[in-house]
Amino acid sequence: MKPSLLELLRCPDCYGSLALRTRERVDAEVISGTIHCSGCGARFPVVNGVPRFVSGDAYTEAFSLEWNLHRTTQLDRVTGQSDSEDRLRRTLAVPLEELKGKLVLDVGCGTGRFADVVLRHGGRVFGVDLSFAVEAAQANLGWHPDMHVVQADIFRLPLRTDEFDLVYSLGVLHHTPDCRRAFAELPKHVKPGGRVVITVYAASNKVYIASTTFWRRFTTRIPKRMLYRLMHVAVPLYYVYRMPGLYHLGMAVFPINMDRRWRWRVLDTFDCYAPTYQSYHTYPEVFRWFEEEGLTDIRVNEPAVTVSGRK
Ligand SMILES: C[S@@+](CC[C@H](N)C(=O)[O-])C[C@H]1O[C@@H](n2cnc3c(N)ncnc32)[C@H](O)[C@@H]1O
Repeated sequence: MKPSLLELLRCPDCYGSLALRTRERVDAEVISGTIHCSGCGARFPVVNGVPRFVSGDAYTEAFSLEWNLHRTTQLDRVTGQSDSEDRLRRTLAVPLEELKGKLVLDVGCGTGRFADVVLRHGGRVFGVDLSFAVEAAQANLGWHPDMHVVQADIFRLPLRTDEFDLVYSLGVLHHTPDCRRAFAELPKHVKPGGRVVITVYAASNKVYIASTTFWRRFTTRIPKRMLYRLMHVAVPLYYVYRMPGLYHLGMAVFPINMDRRWRWRVLDTFDCYAPTYQSYHTYPEVFRWFEEEGLTDIRVNEPAVTVSGRK
């Protein structure tokens, strides 16, 4: 971690200010040490350059596995493609060029695929994740002077309130035990005039939801590594589903990701069948959440369900 991160950190228990005791340092980066709260005396370790405000990855074991096995699969700067940039451009209500110099909070950052895009457009990013995906994010982007990675829970964020120009959480809230309550944590950290943007799973495709819900009763109980191996057996169904007349039938019986790149198919099919929590939502429902939190200038966007609002 960079010592400058401390300015934005607050104790997740009492909101007290924090002090850092460094044990090991490489250049400007603190590799290990302890963060102390001056208010309540709580201590939080810094391990492998990442401050840890949780004692483990709780219910996010699947993400700890998938993002470390697929550390760079979706990272534009490694793939040389622009999937993440294109997706972020469609998702945010502001042009990416406007991110220059902005303070951005990426909640549930995973490997940092979107943080990477923000950094390339001159933003300063705080990536938070509950899982050990933070190891992947730190390896991918921790070297960047404007990147800060923190392991923490959205329900107990160790960050100053009213601080960020932009807070986004893409593909995350529906994987928490309470999507609505998780959403309520985000506006607190946006400064007045800043924006909150979220993407959650859409409740529109009833057949897909019924089928994945059925299979998830079994798949979520399979040890994660075994399930990951099974995905390699499942994703060749791609070639079957592409045969004339078989797509809709196949996707109704056993949905898989249909990306043409097999590593993306394995990753996104695992991402559907492995996580402990998964919920689905509608545009009117999410729009109402924004209204209830007092946000204004609410806009609906793509991919479904993406909504943004101003504080
Ligand atoms: C599907 S991944 C999306 C990652 C990233 N936003 C992306 O689109 O590549 C969901 C992420 O949310 C994280 N997550 C789930 N519950 C969380 C919580 N309570 N607090 C912080 N992160 C959480 C998971 O660990 C996982 O990395």
